[in-house]
Amino acid sequence: MKNLVFIAMLFITAGLAFPAFPQQNGAGVENPLKEEMRLLDVAFKNLIDSVLINDPKGIEEPFHEVHHAKFKTGKALESGGITLPRNHDKMKAFKEMDGRFHETLEGILKAAGAKDMEEVRKKTHEALDGCVQCHSMFRE
Ligand code: HEC
Repeated sequence: MKNLVFIAMLFITAGLAFPAFPQQNGAGVENPLKEEMRLLDVAFKNLIDSVLINDPKGIEEPFHEVHHAKFKTGKALESGGITLPRNHDKMKAFKEMDGRFHETLEGILKAAGAKDMEEVRKKTHEALDGCVQCHSMFRE
């Protein structure tokens, strides 16, 4: 009985030390799409704050990491390393949405560079619609 308790404790400890083993995709890294989305989430929230305080300075920086992550996602989707949670067979539509979304982001960064906060604000609304649209079709 004591041994059983000990073994149970070991498992619990392991569970605490390694919370939620990262989802593997064959390349030995966590799902790159989810990673890209987490980085995008950080960059987007920072963007919203910047709109609120009307300050274009810090907008661009956090998007650099998103850009790198997007490259990995593209490769993983092409190699079949990851699949979309829903409508994976509609990859063409996904790519189109993704393309449009990233064009909007580029527009935001360009406007931020030109300190045109009115344009940043407009395109931030557009981008938000892009997040919701894509999730409603491809996220679980
Ligand atoms: C072109 C499609 C697309 C766009 C645009 C998009 N997402 Fe996602 N996002 C996805 C998909 C697909 C998932 C689900 C990934 C999975 O569960 O494997 C996801 C998941 C997420 C998650 C959950 C990540 C996790 O760890 O489970 C967050 C947060 C997120 N997106 C934020 C955003 C934000 C913020 C935007 C807009 C600024 C955005 N996304 C735009 C496709 C998109």
